[in-house]
Amino acid sequence: MGAFVPPPQGKAVAVRCPPRLGARGIGHVVGSCIMAAPAYASDTSGRDFQQFVDDVGRNRDFFISVASAAFAFGQLVAAFKASPEGKIQDALAKTMEPFEPSRPQDEVIQRPVMETLRQRIASWQQHATIIGGRYQSGKSVATEEALRGVRGVVRCTIESSDWKRMMFEELKVEDGGLFTEVMRRAREKLKDFPDNLTKFPILLLEVPRTTTEGINLISSTAKDVATDKIGSAIHVIVSASSAAVALAFDAGGTERQEDIWVGDLTEEEAKEFLALHGHENKWEDFVDACGFRIGNLAKACENLKKGMSLDNTKQEYQRLATVEVVGFLELQAHPKVTGREMLQELLKVYPEGIPEVSNGIRILPREVAALIRNKSCHAVYFHPIKKRFFFASKLHKEAAEAQLANP
Ligand SMILES: Nc1ncnc2c1ncn2[C@@H]1O[C@H](COP(=O)(O)OP(=O)(O)O)[C@@H](O)[C@H]1O
Ligand SMILES: [Mg+2]
Repeated sequence: MGAFVPPPQGKAVAVRCPPRLGARGIGHVVGSCIMAAPAYASDTSGRDFQQFVDDVGRNRDFFISVASAAFAFGQLVAAFKASPEGKIQDALAKTMEPFEPSRPQDEVIQRPVMETLRQRIASWQQHATIIGGRYQSGKSVATEEALRGVRGVVRCTIESSDWKRMMFEELKVEDGGLFTEVMRRAREKLKDFPDNLTKFPILLLEVPRTTTEGINLISSTAKDVATDKIGSAIHVIVSASSAAVALAFDAGGTERQEDIWVGDLTEEEAKEFLALHGHENKWEDFVDACGFRIGNLAKACENLKKGMSLDNTKQEYQRLATVEVVGFLELQAHPKVTGREMLQELLKVYPEGIPEVSNGIRILPREVAALIRNKSCHAVYFHPIKKRFFFASKLHKEAAEAQLANP
């Protein structure tokens, strides 16, 4: 009885094939052996494993022939997978899978902004879509939910300026040429799915709060791929981590992008969210502690589970708001306007925001956003649709009041 040794790689092996065993037959038998071996081996007594070894011994020639054929076939498959065509087909298959959000549907509350996004996706013709909103306002969840089940989506997190290479690696295509071909074929394949939300492939880019590296490349990529010149137009959706990150994006001016804003929850949405976590009766306490930002409410629910009271969570959010406001006071928003002056102005008109231009001075939202990112002081944001600066939250407004009361 000889032990089965696979033929060494790259060496020709003399094989005695059983008569009339075609490729299909070999495949079938190989498949059965692969299925059978673990079944034999799964018996811990070792008796069945011995039986397997005996069987192999009795049918040695047959098993060798089958194994060699499988080996050759395996090499062929591996070679194809490694070829540009194989890579394109793999990446295409992945892209054509229905998009699955990271959060199960029954843990997500439906929000009108998801419908806005779906409409934008369904009617897309050109330009990138920028999902803006405060950090933790629910942008990623809303974007993923809008894309649930949609085919033709490639998702990538921008972790560095080298994100394109990382995206190619993730898709296992080595360069932009293959990627473009995958997108072109996805566009063709989508014709087989007339009910798909969109006829165009989508590139979903998540930009974390920690980096705006590579954002210029996103802007130029979005501009380049939004037209048919590469064989298929691609709808680039940028889900920015914060309002200040969204402002770093520039695909050639606001007329070249569509902004979608994910704001605070409405009262109804807040109740629905808290009901999901079993706190519908205490929704007012939660909102008092956290405001209407969904991420804060989610964190408060989590904290409560860990034994941290709602009061302690509130104190933590007040502390954070104070830190951000104090940081913002010191910013030089414009040669003639400090952060302190901006906050004073915002308090005067609260809850209205202040426009870009006031008292004959123009404060550039993009420049203020860069300062906010650098100093991590998100006390104020610029709303790209209302075109005004606002306090980031009621807690920030209260923190500003407290700070400005004792200069
Ligand atoms: N629609 C939703 N339903 C349920 N929970 C949500 C929803 N949107 C956001 N959340 C909760 O809020 C947190 C922050 O949302 P996320 O989308 O990551 O914010 P952003 O991308 O704006 O920073 C999520 O981790 C989740 O716990
Ligand atoms: Mg996000």
